[in-house]
Amino acid sequence: MTIDYRSQTVLLTGASAGIGAAFATALASRGANLVLVARRADQLTAIADELHRTHGVRVDTIPFDLADPAAGAALHRIVTERGIAITSVINNEAVGTFALFADADAGRLATEIAVDVAAPVQVTAAFLPDLLRAGNGFILNVAGASAYVPSPRMAVYSAAKAFVLSFTESLWAELRGSGLTVFAVSPGATRTEFTTGMGTGARVLISGKTRAADDVVATALAHLERRNPGPSVVDGRINRLTVMMSRFATRRQSAALMARVLDPARL
Ligand SMILES: NC(=O)c1ccc[n+]([C@@H]2O[C@H](COP(=O)([O-])OP(=O)(O)OC[C@H]3O[C@@H](n4cnc5c(N)ncnc54)[C@H](OP(=O)(O)O)[C@@H]3O)[C@@H](O)[C@H]2O)c1
Repeated sequence: MTIDYRSQTVLLTGASAGIGAAFATALASRGANLVLVARRADQLTAIADELHRTHGVRVDTIPFDLADPAAGAALHRIVTERGIAITSVINNEAVGTFALFADADAGRLATEIAVDVAAPVQVTAAFLPDLLRAGNGFILNVAGASAYVPSPRMAVYSAAKAFVLSFTESLWAELRGSGLTVFAVSPGATRTEFTTGMGTGARVLISGKTRAADDVVATALAHLERRNPGPSVVDGRINRLTVMMSRFATRRQSAALMARVLDPARL
């Protein structure tokens, strides 16, 4: 579809770094107004000031912890109080843990589910009536290549991404004909802050060929701009090939292979 970015006000979560910051830059350069959400206020303000100065768009910031179970309603209230009408949402934030499940901290895993699973659902639910009213925007959820295969040492994270992918693909079908474009983009290994703090051994995730945050954004926006976009897109030729090949393997083969691929001992 032809999207007029200048008519968009996009709520973008996880906007203070990495792929989210790259989305902010790409959308502002196309004329979209933005509402940036993440925990680090200073980072958000610096990005907002720069984008406003460079592109003349309105960029609001909401420093907010998306682990809050009432995230959707709270963000909607703040946006409404500021008189902003959101036309599109990008659910991009996530945290991950790299550890054997038996060794992982239960509290950290609970936060991971809150941020990676519950928040995208709650934020989408809270803003959907506004998006439907505007009827010319999009819902873009960031999943990941690990949504397509079981990922030992990232059991909760890859299950969370499988949830995001399935949730988004169902919404795509439910919202056809609504005027909204709904899809998930799945990055593979991408050079961002993501692996920092994931746990010992996470280096294995970026040991192979990695992509840049701008590549992921280019893939997502090219998909958005297609005439009849499908429910999901994988970033990068090698990632697409890997996802395609995984369809020919049994679940047993996939799980066993990924256990070897994600074993830090092989580095
Ligand atoms: N990088 C990769 O290799 C890769 C691969 C596949 C999928 N992905 C997906 O791509 C998306 C973006 O990741 P990235 O690589 O850009 O990671 P990143 O550089 O670590 O950025 C993550 C963003 O999420 C925000 N965030 C984290 N926890 C939050 C919380 N509790 N409340 C609010 N915001 C929170 C962070 O901001 P604050 O810290 O300021 O809150 C930051 O803006 C994620 O969905 C990730 O799963 C990444």
